[in-house]
Amino acid sequence: MERFISMNKNLKEVLRYMFSLSMFKSLAMSYAYYIHEHVAWRTKIHAKPNIRIHSTASLRNPQNIYIGENSHININCCVWPAADSKIILGDNLLMGPGVSIQGANHGTDKSDIPMMQQDRVNKGDIVIGNDCWLGSNVTITAGVHIADGVIVAAGAVVTKSITEPYAIVGGVPAKIIGYRKTKEEKEAAAQAKASNV
Ligand SMILES: CC(C)(COP(=O)(O)OP(=O)(O)OC[C@H]1O[C@@H](n2cnc3c(N)ncnc32)[C@H](O)[C@@H]1OP(=O)(O)O)[C@@H](O)C(=O)NCCC(=O)NCCS
Repeated sequence: MERFISMNKNLKEVLRYMFSLSMFKSLAMSYAYYIHEHVAWRTKIHAKPNIRIHSTASLRNPQNIYIGENSHININCCVWPAADSKIILGDNLLMGPGVSIQGANHGTDKSDIPMMQQDRVNKGDIVIGNDCWLGSNVTITAGVHIADGVIVAAGAVVTKSITEPYAIVGGVPAKIIGYRKTKEEKEAAAQAKASNV
């Protein structure tokens, strides 16, 4: 009985708002948002062949985004260059879910003006090399350059450039935690660690 009353209440709410002004406003806004978030940028980015971008990804200032061949932008990723800087992604880039590449910064030096009204600060382009892997929920901040072959471990925040190719970086702020190894090198390292115990 309780379930029936609750369903009835929900149904009444649906019928009440189905043809309301709020409904049409909401639909129009959702549609405009969808066009802005998921359609308009597709004609503006600079993309090499065979890229994949998940439908939930958000790309802002798309005219300043360059994407290399075979690169992936995954679920819930956000790529946001400043209006006057670029984000350049290399070839064969792997991006886990929730990666955030943020080239834009609000001005913060004045306390008498809200930050959203202060001039933006341009810290330069973000450039990510070829064959990099950004783990899930990684954040890359403005001006950072990442060398070829680097792995950024899940959850890291990269605030400074990573200049060593094939490094593995992790943590907040991200630091080098290792280097990519072959299977044999990994096994040898594990053996050496075990024999030192
Ligand atoms: C970075 C990564 C690839 C390393 O994997 P791995 O080579 O198997 O490394 P291990 O798990 O053996 O860990 C090696 C060391 O790095 C540390 N480490 C691993 N992941 C880390 C992370 N996300 N942040 C900080 N340190 C990390 C481990 O604690 C370990 O430290 P120790 O040597 O002091 O014990 C992996 O941890 C990772 O982050 N993968 C991303 C997965 C992902 O997001 N996938 C999305 C689909 S694209």
